Amino acid sequence: MKMQLQKPRGTRDILPEEQKYWRFIEDIVDKRCGAFGFGKIETPIMENKELYAKGIGQATDIVEKEMYSVKRFSSETANEDDDKSELVLRPEYTAGIVRAYLEDGMQSWPQPIKLYSFGPIFRYDRPQKGRFRQFWQFNTEVIGDSSPLTDALLILLVWQIFQDLGLKNQIVVEINSLGCKSCRNKIKKQIIDYYKKYKNALCLDCQRRLDTNPFRLLDCKELNCQKIAAGSPQIIDNLCSECKKQFMQVLEYLDELGITYDLNPRLVRGLDYYTRTTFEVRDINDKNRQSSLGGGGRYDNLVEIYGGRPTPAIGFAGGIERIIDKLKELEIDVGSPKVAEIYIIQIGEKAKRMALRLISDLGSKGFSISSAFGKDTLKSQLRTASKNKARIALIIGQREALDKSVIVRDMMEASQETVDLKDLETLLIKKLRSS
Ligand code: HAM
Repeated sequence: MKMQLQKPRGTRDILPEEQKYWRFIEDIVDKRCGAFGFGKIETPIMENKELYAKGIGQATDIVEKEMYSVKRFSSETANEDDDKSELVLRPEYTAGIVRAYLEDGMQSWPQPIKLYSFGPIFRYDRPQKGRFRQFWQFNTEVIGDSSPLTDALLILLVWQIFQDLGLKNQIVVEINSLGCKSCRNKIKKQIIDYYKKYKNALCLDCQRRLDTNPFRLLDCKELNCQKIAAGSPQIIDNLCSECKKQFMQVLEYLDELGITYDLNPRLVRGLDYYTRTTFEVRDINDKNRQSSLGGGGRYDNLVEIYGGRPTPAIGFAGGIERIIDKLKELEIDVGSPKVAEIYIIQIGEKAKRMALRLISDLGSKGFSISSAFGKDTLKSQLRTASKNKARIALIIGQREALDKSVIVRDMMEASQETVDLKDLETLLIKKLRSS
């Protein structure tokens, strides 16, 4: 039977012409995070399942039904250490980064630790526009600082990244406080009592969550559930004095920085580790709040949950595919795709060898060069050079190969001249680097 060539559902190939969007976003993230003193961290794409169950929460969608497990196929028996752990593809960055913070001794470095990442994430989700099973995030974390100034600075970093992307006027920052453990324990019972009266009118997910994760009911996307949520007791009205003070300060600093935000008392987020400040970046046109461009918040208990000293932290992740959709919709200029500036055309065996040497020599001097050795005629190679948008074509025929010379053709001006090989680099620098 013929093998079916098809990528897994909910995944995508990122083709060369799409790469410019990825590079545009990654460059902005690198630049802004660097300016704010963040260092880049890469963590493994697979981690122990337990890490997420413990950190994100057993009753969350991610842990309950969205993780992909990683299996090794072999007839050999695994050694004892491998047997103990079940590996999963990372469904987010934060848990892995906190693991690295503890495992790599970052607790003893000067605090806070500021880290950022850019890479693929995996969640089993129903594929649709802006929702994939493999998607990319840029992720930022500040670990080891509880000051409300840090909340404001992290939101400022996110704000400036969206500003550089050209999306500042297209987004709204929604913000809420989930309080500390004791605030939430206080309000949990009130929320359950309120919702019990409406149990039969709730969607099936909410009926189930009423027992397992009642706060999520506040953020349900179903219209009927939203109507019921409108009358529910709010976490923000029940914050303890410390949490209230912290939140008011964050809002004051945001005002001072000129960052506009919408207070959304029903913003709860889908991961259990959040405490106090939580926020999301949304498209202003997404009135039904169907999908966020990014989200984050404080997670002051997570380091302790993993066995470290109590350590406050805050972070944010942006969804790259959703940002790219927005860039495309607004036709934002993300620059042209990188193309080779020089195209080498060769005719005959001797010329092929000389072309090979030139690719090596010029390449090591920093020029970008392309060629097609499978094509033999001048016409077809010139056509490809022009399709590839090369600035210069270097033409080597039998005569040039013998004379150790090369024809330099300026593809924009359609002019050409023959130069000695020894003068080629100087001419290329003049033509390509002086403009
Ligand atoms: P999250 O809200 O689960 O937060 O994901 C962040 C962003 O990833 C979302 O706002 C969305 O843009 C994007 N995203 C999520 N699921 C999908 C999907 N199936 N397809 C495409 N894009 C998606 C977190 O992951 C937290 N770890 C953020 C954080 C960092 N909190 C503290 N530090």
